Amino acid sequence: MTPDIRPHEKLDRAVIFLGPPGAGKGTQAKELARKFSAPHLSTGDMLREHVAQGTSLGQRAQPIMSRGELVPDSIVLRMVAERIERRDCSHGFVFDGFPRTVTQAQWLGELLKQHGFKPPVVVHLVIDPAMLLRRITGRRMCRVGGEIYNIFERPPKVEGRCDNDGGELDQRPDDREEIVGPRLAAYEKQTAPLAAYYRRLGRLRDIDASKTVDEVTRSILDFVREAL
Ligand code: AP5
Repeated sequence: MTPDIRPHEKLDRAVIFLGPPGAGKGTQAKELARKFSAPHLSTGDMLREHVAQGTSLGQRAQPIMSRGELVPDSIVLRMVAERIERRDCSHGFVFDGFPRTVTQAQWLGELLKQHGFKPPVVVHLVIDPAMLLRRITGRRMCRVGGEIYNIFERPPKVEGRCDNDGGELDQRPDDREEIVGPRLAAYEKQTAPLAAYYRRLGRLRDIDASKTVDEVTRSILDFVREAL
Protein backbone atom coordinates (compact mmCIF):
# COMPACT_ATOMS: atom_id res chain seq x y z
CA MET A 1 0.00 0.00 0.00
CA THR A 2 1.06 3.61 -0.44
CA PRO A 3 3.31 5.16 2.21
CA ASP A 4 1.25 8.38 2.01
CA ILE A 5 -0.03 8.59 5.59
CA ARG A 6 -0.80 11.87 7.32
CA PRO A 7 -1.37 10.88 10.94
CA HIS A 8 -3.80 13.59 12.00
CA GLU A 9 -5.96 13.51 8.90
CA LYS A 10 -9.66 13.10 9.82
CA LEU A 11 -12.92 12.68 7.95
CA ASP A 12 -15.82 15.01 8.71
CA ARG A 13 -18.49 13.22 6.68
CA ALA A 14 -19.44 9.95 5.00
CA VAL A 15 -17.48 8.57 2.07
CA ILE A 16 -19.52 6.24 -0.16
CA PHE A 17 -18.04 3.61 -2.49
CA LEU A 18 -20.09 2.70 -5.56
CA GLY A 19 -19.12 0.04 -8.06
CA PRO A 20 -20.02 -3.45 -9.26
CA PRO A 21 -19.20 -6.63 -7.31
CA GLY A 22 -15.45 -7.23 -7.47
CA ALA A 23 -14.54 -3.66 -8.49
CA GLY A 24 -12.46 -3.24 -5.32
CA LYS A 25 -14.82 -1.38 -2.96
CA GLY A 26 -13.84 -3.44 0.08
CA THR A 27 -10.11 -3.30 -0.66
CA GLN A 28 -10.16 0.46 -1.15
CA ALA A 29 -12.74 1.38 1.51
CA LYS A 30 -10.70 -0.46 4.17
CA GLU A 31 -7.53 1.31 3.12
CA LEU A 32 -9.18 4.75 3.14
CA ALA A 33 -10.73 4.08 6.55
CA ARG A 34 -7.31 3.01 7.85
CA LYS A 35 -5.67 6.19 6.52
CA PHE A 36 -8.29 8.43 8.15
CA SER A 37 -8.71 6.28 11.30
CA ALA A 38 -12.42 6.13 10.52
CA PRO A 39 -14.83 3.20 10.81
CA HIS A 40 -15.26 1.01 7.71
CA LEU A 41 -18.96 0.19 7.41
CA SER A 42 -19.55 -2.71 5.02
CA THR A 43 -23.18 -3.79 4.89
CA GLY A 44 -22.04 -7.04 3.23
CA ASP A 45 -19.72 -7.78 6.19
CA MET A 46 -22.47 -6.86 8.69
CA LEU A 47 -24.91 -9.20 6.95
CA ARG A 48 -22.34 -12.03 6.76
CA GLU A 49 -21.72 -11.57 10.50
CA HIS A 50 -25.46 -11.97 11.19
CA VAL A 51 -25.50 -15.09 8.99
CA ALA A 52 -22.48 -16.54 10.82
CA GLN A 53 -24.10 -15.89 14.21
CA GLY A 54 -27.43 -17.31 13.07
CA THR A 55 -29.46 -14.26 14.18
CA SER A 56 -33.03 -13.94 12.88
CA LEU A 57 -31.83 -11.16 10.58
CA GLY A 58 -29.08 -13.47 9.30
CA GLN A 59 -31.58 -16.28 8.72
CA ARG A 60 -33.72 -13.97 6.57
CA ALA A 61 -30.74 -12.56 4.67
CA GLN A 62 -28.83 -15.79 3.98
CA PRO A 63 -31.00 -17.32 1.19
CA ILE A 64 -31.30 -13.92 -0.51
CA MET A 65 -27.54 -13.35 -0.46
CA SER A 66 -26.83 -16.85 -1.71
CA ARG A 67 -29.02 -16.15 -4.76
CA GLY A 68 -27.02 -12.96 -5.45
CA GLU A 69 -30.01 -10.68 -4.84
CA LEU A 70 -30.24 -7.57 -2.68
CA VAL A 71 -31.51 -7.90 0.88
CA PRO A 72 -34.67 -5.80 1.47
CA ASP A 73 -34.12 -2.12 2.32
CA SER A 74 -36.02 -2.52 5.61
CA ILE A 75 -33.37 -4.92 6.97
CA VAL A 76 -30.37 -2.96 5.73
CA LEU A 77 -31.62 0.47 6.85
CA ARG A 78 -32.22 -0.69 10.40
CA MET A 79 -28.74 -2.20 10.55
CA VAL A 80 -27.08 0.99 9.25
CA ALA A 81 -29.13 3.30 11.51
CA GLU A 82 -28.00 1.32 14.56
CA ARG A 83 -24.37 1.26 13.47
CA ILE A 84 -23.94 4.97 12.87
CA GLU A 85 -25.41 5.77 16.29
CA ARG A 86 -22.19 4.41 17.83
CA ARG A 87 -19.64 6.84 19.18
CA ASP A 88 -16.88 5.90 16.72
CA CYS A 89 -19.04 7.30 13.89
CA SER A 90 -19.30 10.82 15.28
CA HIS A 91 -16.67 12.26 12.88
CA GLY A 92 -17.46 10.39 9.69
CA PHE A 93 -17.15 6.91 8.24
CA VAL A 94 -16.51 4.97 5.06
CA PHE A 95 -19.43 3.03 3.54
CA ASP A 96 -18.72 -0.04 1.45
CA GLY A 97 -21.69 -1.52 -0.41
CA PHE A 98 -24.18 1.00 0.94
CA PRO A 99 -26.32 2.66 -0.33
CA ARG A 100 -27.33 0.27 -3.09
CA THR A 101 -30.77 1.49 -4.12
CA VAL A 102 -32.18 4.96 -4.68
CA THR A 103 -34.43 4.44 -1.64
CA GLN A 104 -31.37 3.69 0.51
CA ALA A 105 -29.58 6.78 -0.86
CA GLN A 106 -32.53 9.09 -0.14
CA TRP A 107 -32.93 7.67 3.35
CA LEU A 108 -29.20 8.08 4.00
CA GLY A 109 -29.26 11.70 2.80
CA GLU A 110 -31.93 12.50 5.39
CA LEU A 111 -30.18 10.57 8.15
CA LEU A 112 -26.86 12.34 7.54
CA LYS A 113 -28.62 15.71 7.62
CA GLN A 114 -30.33 14.84 10.91
CA HIS A 115 -26.94 13.93 12.40
CA GLY A 116 -25.42 17.22 11.19
CA PHE A 117 -22.97 15.71 8.69
CA LYS A 118 -21.87 17.53 5.56
CA PRO A 119 -23.01 16.00 2.22
CA PRO A 120 -21.19 12.72 1.47
CA VAL A 121 -18.34 12.23 -0.97
CA VAL A 122 -18.90 9.44 -3.53
CA VAL A 123 -16.14 7.32 -5.07
CA HIS A 124 -17.42 5.56 -8.20
CA LEU A 125 -15.19 2.63 -9.19
CA VAL A 126 -15.41 2.14 -12.95
CA ILE A 127 -14.16 -1.08 -14.52
CA ASP A 128 -14.59 -3.23 -17.64
CA PRO A 129 -17.04 -6.00 -16.57
CA ALA A 130 -14.78 -8.57 -18.28
CA MET A 131 -12.24 -8.11 -15.43
CA LEU A 132 -14.73 -8.86 -12.67
CA LEU A 133 -15.09 -12.63 -12.91
CA ARG A 134 -11.38 -13.22 -12.22
CA ARG A 135 -11.44 -10.79 -9.30
CA ILE A 136 -14.55 -12.34 -7.75
CA THR A 137 -13.76 -16.04 -8.21
CA GLY A 138 -10.14 -15.46 -7.11
CA ARG A 139 -11.07 -13.60 -3.93
CA ARG A 140 -10.25 -15.12 -0.54
CA MET A 141 -10.95 -13.45 2.81
CA CYS A 142 -9.32 -13.90 6.18
CA ARG A 143 -11.67 -15.47 8.73
CA VAL A 144 -10.01 -13.51 11.54
CA GLY A 145 -9.42 -9.94 10.36
CA GLY A 146 -11.31 -9.88 7.04
CA GLU A 147 -8.22 -9.00 4.97
CA ILE A 148 -8.96 -9.44 1.25
CA TYR A 149 -6.68 -11.45 -1.10
CA ASN A 150 -6.87 -12.71 -4.63
CA ILE A 151 -5.27 -16.01 -5.62
CA PHE A 152 -4.50 -14.64 -9.10
CA GLU A 153 -3.69 -10.97 -8.43
CA ARG A 154 -2.85 -10.54 -4.73
CA PRO A 155 -1.94 -13.93 -3.26
CA PRO A 156 -0.95 -14.31 0.40
CA LYS A 157 2.70 -15.19 1.15
CA VAL A 158 1.63 -18.61 2.47
CA GLU A 159 -1.17 -20.31 0.56
CA GLY A 160 -4.50 -20.26 2.44
CA ARG A 161 -3.16 -18.13 5.34
CA CYS A 162 -3.47 -14.41 6.07
CA ASP A 163 -0.20 -12.42 6.00
CA ASN A 164 -1.36 -10.27 8.96
CA ASP A 165 -2.57 -12.81 11.52
CA GLY A 166 -2.14 -16.28 9.99
CA GLY A 167 -5.96 -16.68 9.86
CA GLU A 168 -7.48 -19.20 7.47
CA LEU A 169 -8.59 -17.79 4.12
CA ASP A 170 -12.13 -18.57 2.93
CA GLN A 171 -14.04 -18.18 -0.29
CA ARG A 172 -17.43 -16.43 0.07
CA PRO A 173 -20.37 -18.68 -0.88
CA ASP A 174 -21.67 -16.01 -3.31
CA ASP A 175 -18.29 -15.85 -5.10
CA ARG A 176 -19.05 -19.05 -7.01
CA GLU A 177 -19.13 -18.47 -10.76
CA GLU A 178 -22.86 -19.30 -11.10
CA ILE A 179 -23.84 -16.55 -8.61
CA VAL A 180 -21.74 -13.84 -10.26
CA GLY A 181 -24.26 -13.29 -13.12
CA PRO A 182 -27.23 -12.61 -10.80
CA ARG A 183 -25.08 -10.29 -8.64
CA LEU A 184 -24.00 -8.26 -11.66
CA ALA A 185 -27.61 -8.14 -12.90
CA ALA A 186 -28.81 -6.86 -9.49
CA TYR A 187 -26.07 -4.23 -9.61
CA GLU A 188 -27.04 -3.02 -13.10
CA LYS A 189 -30.72 -2.85 -12.31
CA GLN A 190 -30.81 -1.53 -8.75
CA THR A 191 -27.45 0.10 -7.93
CA ALA A 192 -25.97 1.50 -11.16
CA PRO A 193 -28.67 4.26 -11.29
CA LEU A 194 -27.13 5.67 -8.09
CA ALA A 195 -24.13 6.94 -10.07
CA ALA A 196 -26.43 9.30 -12.01
CA TYR A 197 -28.21 10.22 -8.76
CA TYR A 198 -24.98 11.34 -7.02
CA ARG A 199 -23.48 12.81 -10.20
CA ARG A 200 -26.48 15.14 -10.43
CA LEU A 201 -25.80 16.23 -6.85
CA GLY A 202 -22.19 17.01 -7.86
CA ARG A 203 -20.59 14.74 -5.29
CA LEU A 204 -19.24 11.87 -7.37
CA ARG A 205 -15.87 11.17 -9.02
CA ASP A 206 -15.29 8.32 -11.49
CA ILE A 207 -12.13 6.38 -10.58
CA ASP A 208 -10.51 3.89 -12.98
CA ALA A 209 -10.60 0.67 -10.94
CA SER A 210 -8.76 -1.43 -13.54
CA LYS A 211 -5.38 -0.06 -12.41
CA THR A 212 -3.23 -1.57 -9.65
CA VAL A 213 -4.48 -1.39 -6.07
CA ASP A 214 -1.91 1.28 -5.18
CA GLU A 215 -2.73 3.43 -8.21
CA VAL A 216 -6.45 3.26 -7.43
CA THR A 217 -5.74 4.14 -3.77
CA ARG A 218 -3.77 7.21 -4.84
CA SER A 219 -6.56 8.48 -7.14
CA ILE A 220 -9.14 8.01 -4.38
CA LEU A 221 -6.99 9.78 -1.79
CA ASP A 222 -6.42 12.73 -4.12
CA PHE A 223 -10.16 13.04 -4.72
CA VAL A 224 -11.19 12.68 -1.07
CA ARG A 225 -8.58 15.17 0.16
CA GLU A 226 -9.69 17.65 -2.49
CA ALA A 227 -13.37 17.16 -1.59
CA LEU A 228 -13.06 17.53 2.21
P1 AP5 B 1 -21.02 -7.08 -0.62
O1 AP5 B 1 -20.24 -7.79 0.39
O2 AP5 B 1 -21.16 -5.60 -0.53
O3 AP5 B 1 -20.46 -7.51 -2.04
P2 AP5 B 1 -20.39 -6.75 -3.47
O4 AP5 B 1 -20.98 -5.43 -3.59
O5 AP5 B 1 -20.93 -7.79 -4.38
O6 AP5 B 1 -18.93 -6.43 -3.64
P3 AP5 B 1 -17.79 -7.38 -3.43
O7 AP5 B 1 -17.50 -7.52 -1.96
O8 AP5 B 1 -18.03 -8.65 -4.19
O9 AP5 B 1 -16.60 -6.68 -4.21
P4 AP5 B 1 -15.72 -5.41 -3.86
O10 AP5 B 1 -16.05 -4.34 -4.83
O11 AP5 B 1 -15.80 -5.10 -2.41
O12 AP5 B 1 -14.29 -5.98 -4.25
P5 AP5 B 1 -13.03 -6.40 -3.35
O13 AP5 B 1 -12.34 -5.21 -2.80
O14 AP5 B 1 -13.39 -7.49 -2.40
O15 AP5 B 1 -22.50 -7.67 -0.69
C1 AP5 B 1 -22.76 -9.05 -0.64
C2 AP5 B 1 -24.27 -9.28 -0.61
O16 AP5 B 1 -24.83 -8.71 0.59
C3 AP5 B 1 -25.06 -8.62 -1.75
O17 AP5 B 1 -25.10 -9.42 -2.91
C4 AP5 B 1 -26.44 -8.46 -1.10
O18 AP5 B 1 -27.15 -9.68 -1.08
C5 AP5 B 1 -26.10 -8.10 0.33
N1 AP5 B 1 -25.98 -6.65 0.56
C6 AP5 B 1 -24.86 -5.97 0.97
N2 AP5 B 1 -25.11 -4.66 1.10
C7 AP5 B 1 -26.42 -4.48 0.76
C8 AP5 B 1 -27.25 -3.34 0.69
N3 AP5 B 1 -26.80 -2.10 0.96
N4 AP5 B 1 -28.55 -3.52 0.29
C9 AP5 B 1 -29.02 -4.76 0.01
N5 AP5 B 1 -28.29 -5.89 0.06
C10 AP5 B 1 -26.99 -5.75 0.44
O19 AP5 B 1 -12.08 -6.99 -4.51
C11 AP5 B 1 -12.47 -8.12 -5.27
C12 AP5 B 1 -11.22 -8.96 -5.58
O20 AP5 B 1 -10.38 -8.22 -6.49
C13 AP5 B 1 -10.35 -9.28 -4.36
O21 AP5 B 1 -9.83 -10.56 -4.51
C14 AP5 B 1 -9.22 -8.23 -4.40
O22 AP5 B 1 -8.03 -8.70 -3.84
C15 AP5 B 1 -9.09 -7.99 -5.92
N6 AP5 B 1 -8.74 -6.61 -6.26
C16 AP5 B 1 -9.26 -5.47 -5.74
N7 AP5 B 1 -8.72 -4.38 -6.34
C17 AP5 B 1 -7.86 -4.86 -7.26
C18 AP5 B 1 -6.97 -4.22 -8.21
N8 AP5 B 1 -6.93 -2.88 -8.35
N9 AP5 B 1 -6.22 -5.00 -9.00
C19 AP5 B 1 -6.28 -6.36 -8.89
N10 AP5 B 1 -7.07 -7.02 -8.01
C20 AP5 B 1 -7.85 -6.27 -7.21
